[in-house]
Amino acid sequence: MEQNIKQISNDLLVWYDENARVLPWRYFGKTKVDPYKVWISEIMLQQTSVKMVIPYFKEFLKRWPTVTKLSEADLSEVLSFWSGLGYYSRARNLLKCAVLIESYYNGKFPENEKELLKLPGIGVYTSAAILSIAFNKCAVVVDGNIKRLISRIFSLKTPIKSNYKEIWSLTQIITPDKRFGDFAQSMMDLGSKICTPTSPKCKICPISNNCLAKINNMENLLPIKLKKTLKPIRNGNSYIIKNKNKILLYKRPNKGLLAGLVSIPSGEWDNYDDARLKFINNFKKHKFSQIKHEFTHFSLKMEIYCIDYNIPHNAAIKIPSGFNWYSFQEVKNLAMPSLMQKIFKTTSFYKIPIQ
Ligand code: ADE
Repeated sequence: MEQNIKQISNDLLVWYDENARVLPWRYFGKTKVDPYKVWISEIMLQQTSVKMVIPYFKEFLKRWPTVTKLSEADLSEVLSFWSGLGYYSRARNLLKCAVLIESYYNGKFPENEKELLKLPGIGVYTSAAILSIAFNKCAVVVDGNIKRLISRIFSLKTPIKSNYKEIWSLTQIITPDKRFGDFAQSMMDLGSKICTPTSPKCKICPISNNCLAKINNMENLLPIKLKKTLKPIRNGNSYIIKNKNKILLYKRPNKGLLAGLVSIPSGEWDNYDDARLKFINNFKKHKFSQIKHEFTHFSLKMEIYCIDYNIPHNAAIKIPSGFNWYSFQEVKNLAMPSLMQKIFKTTSFYKIPIQ
């Protein structure tokens, strides 16, 4: 059986018209698409699943419905909103980008790759996604789903991670000369519903007759995976310093992991020697729990110590500036980074009297 490359985009678009996922940032059959919504959704979807993004996206649009509104937002508010989504640099870049679009482009997104790439947080993928989905311009969109699809359609024997250029060229070859955004999203939806990482549903796939992996009975073997390298383990200590019904939090350093976020004091795990934490050495403390947390590049084992600031020895120790006491309710409303929330939850689980 011969592979008919031209037929692939046709079949995908027909399938998409019937089977597209209805998602809050999508517009079906409407001529006017809001590039702001496309941009926000693409940034959120970079490291987070569609299912998780949907409620965040809706709430974000309620709070900041336009690029103008976002450009006027407080960074701390956006960061606090972002807790739970992780990868906070995305939130910082969103705000920087909104300010630039407002001031340099009069609140309108540029419609070409060269200008889009100058904006913070917008790389080759996001620029292509915005151009095709928001402006229906010809652009080659390559995300994780699309890499898998292309590897199967063309039966590629090189692992995805080391094969970007070939995948990009093949995606370009099957990109149609119309409906660019629909085409990119049809690939994403096929990858999510049918051409799944394991057990692809080739029987109901609209392009299986043009898929070399299927034709060669290789669909379960492709894409070739690189052996997973084990993540390094880091160790750290965190300190629940309580004073009656309050706990002590601080703003993390402006650089590095969880930069600038209000957090439970913790150190040793983040490759940053924060002199502000030295006063903690003087406290009487007791170890009461440990948690594990996964970052992209390392696994973290965090020891949790409890310090009661009310006992005379501890109360004699001066707390440096930059640290503040927060009530239980205030901590909950802060929406701290998920690592810190995890530590905090452990403390209430152990019924440490913070109320
Ligand atoms: N992942 C990234 N962008 C997406 C989109 N527009 N629709 C569905 N999943 C996506």
